[in-house]
Amino acid sequence: MKAIVGPASTGLGEKICSLAGLEKIRFSFKQFPDGELYVRLLEDVTGVEALIIQSLSPPQDRNLMLLLQLISAFKTNGGGEASVLIPYMAYARQDKIFLSGEPVSAHLVARLIEAAGADRVALVEVHSDAAAKGFRNSVLIEVTGSFAEYYLRNGFEKAYVVAPDKNATSRAKRLADMIQGGVGWVEKTRNKETGCVSSTEGQLNPSGRKTIIIDDIISTGGTIIEAIKLLKSKGASQISVACIHGLFVGDAYQRIMNAGASSVLSSDTVETQYSNISVASDVVRTLREKGWL
Ligand code: R5P
Repeated sequence: MKAIVGPASTGLGEKICSLAGLEKIRFSFKQFPDGELYVRLLEDVTGVEALIIQSLSPPQDRNLMLLLQLISAFKTNGGGEASVLIPYMAYARQDKIFLSGEPVSAHLVARLIEAAGADRVALVEVHSDAAAKGFRNSVLIEVTGSFAEYYLRNGFEKAYVVAPDKNATSRAKRLADMIQGGVGWVEKTRNKETGCVSSTEGQLNPSGRKTIIIDDIISTGGTIIEAIKLLKSKGASQISVACIHGLFVGDAYQRIMNAGASSVLSSDTVETQYSNISVASDVVRTLREKGWL
């Protein structure tokens, strides 16, 4: 198997190739003056199997189009099985119709990727099982282990792990188990029209304890900031924030720090100036277990 490392995942892709011993297929891409995107593979891919790695991080629509073009270029030029790794799947939060008249965007994205020629897809900590169900053939990759290693190295053994939303408790529990800590959750409600978040205590017992809040995505930071306020009011001694996919819209990172976080961890599924954890080892291990590598 060879790899095609898309422009949105150059750092993570490089690490995966190095850990898995994958040779990269070269390609060029450019944007025409009118905004359209162009991709060209620079080597013969006849009969080759490829792992195509491209995050759908911001700008989501451009990165989706590049992924579709890379898959299509590979398949229409004689490529063999196309395995696609999507470190961050955009539109996954629109995984059902919340208000009448909406599309299920997650399933639309999945269908587009399959229509381009993806034979199988691996998703890193996708927002929900419902979003992943849009694909006919998908593997889900959990990367909490990469975060646990960091926290164990940095004095957070037995810390209290909090989900900023009851629906995110299973991830918090996984991390808590790995660092032998406790787990709690915040009750979050989001106004479906305005997007505004309000949070109340769900089950929280952080008094005097080192605390980690972990969520899948940080976008505006509103969810995390609400959780920080609650934890501070209940006496948490130190609050570290972790997310798998850090989008950090506008000044979200600074506002989270100003709210009282002692550190913010975010992975390279979305490559930003704030990415400080790599999920490469969890990804390679899982793909090996699933027989992809
Ligand atoms: C929502 O269901 C996600 O899991 C995140 O909690 C959400 O996307 C975070 O968004 P924000 O940072 O804008 O509050």
